[in-house]
Amino acid sequence: MNLILFGPPGSGKGTQAERLREKRGLRHLSTGDLLREAVAHGTDLGKRVKDILASGQLVSDDIILALMRAEIARVGIEGWLLDGFPRTVGQAEGLDAQLAELGQKIGAIVVLNVRREAVIERLSGRRTCTRCKTVFHVKINPPTVDGICDRCGGMLVQREDDRPATIAKRLDVYEAQTQPILAHYRGKVAMHDVNGELPVDEVTRFIELVLQ
Ligand code: AP5
Repeated sequence: MNLILFGPPGSGKGTQAERLREKRGLRHLSTGDLLREAVAHGTDLGKRVKDILASGQLVSDDIILALMRAEIARVGIEGWLLDGFPRTVGQAEGLDAQLAELGQKIGAIVVLNVRREAVIERLSGRRTCTRCKTVFHVKINPPTVDGICDRCGGMLVQREDDRPATIAKRLDVYEAQTQPILAHYRGKVAMHDVNGELPVDEVTRFIELVLQ
C-alpha cells in the first residue's frame, strides 16, 4: 500500500514513518531528509537549497518534483510512504500525473493533527542523530547519554531550521501552502485524521487501527 503521512512541521511524521516502515516494509521517502543529505554532501542540489531550508521557506516545485519523480520510480511497485511531500497543490498535481503514468495510486493519507503551541515545544527540543537520523527530544524522549544516539552512538544535533523564528515561519508556510492539499484530495483518497498529540506509541496504534 502507498501512504502519505501529512501534518505540520513537528507533528511526528518522521517518528511515525520509521515505525510504519519497519512494520509494513514500505520505503520511507522524506523530501526533508533527501534535501538535508544533499546539503550535507555539498552536491549541486544541496548548494541550491541550503539557504531555503535554513529560512523555513519551500524549495521550488520544479526541483522537488524532479527529485521525487526519480525516487518514486526507483521504488517500483513495492510501496512507499511519503513524508513531507507533496507540500503544495502544484506538487500534488505533479504526483497525481506521475502515478497515473505508472498505474499506481495513493492508498491512504494519514493526517497528524498537532496544535501550533505543541509544535513549537517539540521542535525547540528536538535533537537528530547525524548518522542514523533517529529523532529525540531533550525532555519528552531524551537519549540515555546527553548528545549521543541510543541507536547507533552517533552525535545528536539541533537542526538549523529548529530555531524559534524559523519554526514560526515554517508553521505559517504550512498553513498557507500545504494545508490546501487536503481539499485537493478530499473525496478522492481515503483520509484518516489522527490525534498526533497522544504519546508516540498510541499514535502508532491509532494509525495501525485506521489503516486496517
Ligand atoms: P521536513 O524535513 O519535511 O520538515 P517538516 O515537515 O517541517 O517536519 P519535521 O521533520 O520538522 O517534523 P516531523 O513531522 O517529521 O516530526 P518529528 O517526527 O521529527 O522539511 C524541512 C524543510 O525542507 C522545509 O521547511 C522546506 O524548506 C524543505 N522541504 C521539504 N520538503 C519539501 C517539499 N516537498 N517542498 C518544498 N520544500 C520542502 O517529531 C518532532 C519532535 O517531536 C521530535 O523531537 C519527536 O521526538 C517529538 N515527537 C514526535 N511524536 C511525538 C508525540 N506523539 N508526542 C511527543 N513528542 C513527539
